[in-house]
Amino acid sequence: MFPKLGGLLASTLAVFPFIESCSPVVPHYFRAADVSRTVTLAQVQNDLGKFLSKGTQIFGPSSPNFANATDRWAQSSMPANIEVVIEVAQEADVAKIVRYCYQNSIDFLTYNRGHGLKNTLAKFQGIQINLSQLTGITIQPDRNSALFQGGVYADIVIDTLWEQGYIVSQYGLISDDFLSLNVVLANGTTVAVDSSSHSDLFWAMKGAGHNFGIVTSAYIKIYPKVVSTWHYHNYVWSQQQLETVFEALNKFQGKGQIPALMGVNFGQFSIYPTINATEAILTWSFAYDGPAAAAEELLAPFNAIPNISSTMGDVDYADLLVAQGTDSNSASCQPGPFVGSSAWLQTYNVTSQRQIYNSSNEKIAQNPGLAAGARVFLEGYSTEATQAIDPGTSAYPHRDEYLLVFILVATPPSLVSFSQAWADETLALWRESEPGRRPTTYINYAVGNEPLESIYGYAGQLPKLRALKAKYDPQNKFRWYNPVVTD
Ligand SMILES: *[C@@H]1O[C@H](CO)[C@@H](O)[C@H](O)[C@H]1NC(C)=O
Ligand SMILES: *[C@@H]1O[C@H](CO)[C@@H](O)[C@H](O)[C@H]1NC(C)=O
Ligand SMILES: *[C@@H]1O[C@H](CO)[C@@H](O)[C@H](O)[C@H]1NC(C)=O
Ligand SMILES: *[C@@H]1O[C@H](CO)[C@@H](O)[C@H](O)[C@H]1NC(C)=O
Ligand SMILES: *[C@@H]1O[C@H](CO)[C@@H](O)[C@H](O)[C@H]1NC(C)=O
Ligand SMILES: *[C@@H]1O[C@H](CO)[C@@H](O)[C@H](O)[C@H]1NC(C)=O
Ligand SMILES: *[C@@H]1O[C@H](CO)[C@@H](O)[C@H](O)[C@H]1NC(C)=O
Repeated sequence: MFPKLGGLLASTLAVFPFIESCSPVVPHYFRAADVSRTVTLAQVQNDLGKFLSKGTQIFGPSSPNFANATDRWAQSSMPANIEVVIEVAQEADVAKIVRYCYQNSIDFLTYNRGHGLKNTLAKFQGIQINLSQLTGITIQPDRNSALFQGGVYADIVIDTLWEQGYIVSQYGLISDDFLSLNVVLANGTTVAVDSSSHSDLFWAMKGAGHNFGIVTSAYIKIYPKVVSTWHYHNYVWSQQQLETVFEALNKFQGKGQIPALMGVNFGQFSIYPTINATEAILTWSFAYDGPAAAAEELLAPFNAIPNISSTMGDVDYADLLVAQGTDSNSASCQPGPFVGSSAWLQTYNVTSQRQIYNSSNEKIAQNPGLAAGARVFLEGYSTEATQAIDPGTSAYPHRDEYLLVFILVATPPSLVSFSQAWADETLALWRESEPGRRPTTYINYAVGNEPLESIYGYAGQLPKLRALKAKYDPQNKFRWYNPVVTD
């Protein structure tokens, strides 16, 4: 996984701490979310079948496809009560299904790739709309943008664009590059959402989109590729080097100053039994959009740290994900019953990182069976382009956060409270590692126990988003993933 930064998501630093909108009060203009009406396959086939386009699949629990259709990356947040699955063949089918659901008080949940740690997903009951067949990517005549259908994901976006000489990374948040979105609203009405049409909703979709609609396709900026290969360098270090590595990373990154061409660097603490079965190692991977010589000059401080191993190469962007172990077939993408927590940081507090590392070894010593599926992840993206954007242009609140950290432990049911305590303790260490800063959470890594302000911002974003909910989704149909209005 390592889901790419920039799913959807702008910041205003809280100037006055006292304007925090901590109030969970649901405004009077919200109706209570409808109780989902139970729906059967026969009923949906009968009511909708003839209206949906050829190639659309409608099936229920008796279908051999059903088990896969309800599977998820985080098996702990699988929607338990999907009644009918519809795999749409055309974008227009989405609006028809949503209108049907709206008129009949049936809940719906849209699926693309099945990430999502958030425990609210598990409560869903109703019709799942699978967008996976909508994989069209059409480069526009101006060559500055492409139309992406709602079922695309990183691997195919990267491969398709690269083949035609384009990239989308390294230019900040994907949501900052949205030009126009085709959105199906809660009542099944389709609208174009951009800076001149429903501009209030455009602001909200960039950071809180899943509260407002289903994006069936989007016009997004693309950029010509400049060089033909990326340079990657993967390091393995033992714990003896932990302090040296984090000090070097802090120097390298400053506060949000990762060199723009060093698109991403990330690492993890984890047990590799072939190296040491009881002591986690520290692995780190850097990716540079350019030649090896320029990258290695930047990496000199890391080359000077004694390592267990180090491998590097120069690859096509399309092969970079494989080289860094983040493609959809990689180990980190495989599903599991995850328990976890996550935070944003500005820099690494070396003392805290050491405590987190040691505690991780101790926890595994107590339950060695968890070793194979336990990881502390640490990610740094070049953020120059993100910081250059006027924070008022989108709901994304974290432009002054630079490092994304999380812990995931694949956990059998008998050890859930043990792993949860471990994840909570790790989160507390991260939060305490930056005295004076308030908790912040990347929406796509949220697990469900975070204050909503930590996800949506402390600068008045929540009241604004809730007012937009009253306008665009007054019945709170879109409430399954980090909802801004909770029942
Ligand atoms: C379910 O998914 C697995 C793994 O991707 C695949 O091997 C299997 O064929 C799928 N089953 C069906 C019925 O599609
Ligand atoms: C979604 O649809 C695709 C193709 O139509 C299918 O391969 C995939 O298994 C489906 N996934 C889910 C979770 O329904
Ligand atoms: C593994 O780590 C433990 C704990 O630090 C250490 O005692 C042991 O020597 C290491 N084993 C190997 C093979 O390096
Ligand atoms: C790091 O690893 C590389 C190759 O694996 C090796 O050539 C180099 O000497 C190592 N450096 C140190 C300081 O261990
Ligand atoms: C972390 O564990 C190592 C042994 O693995 C020990 O030497 C060190 O003192 C511990 N540090 C902290 C801060 O607990
Ligand atoms: C690092 O974290 C500790 C709390 O664990 C805190 O007391 C200390 O001030 C932090 N250091 C910095 C430089 O923020
Ligand atoms: C659907 O909702 C939108 C936004 O609230 C509203 O403007 C539109 O009139 C509604 N359409 C129908 C058919 O009710």
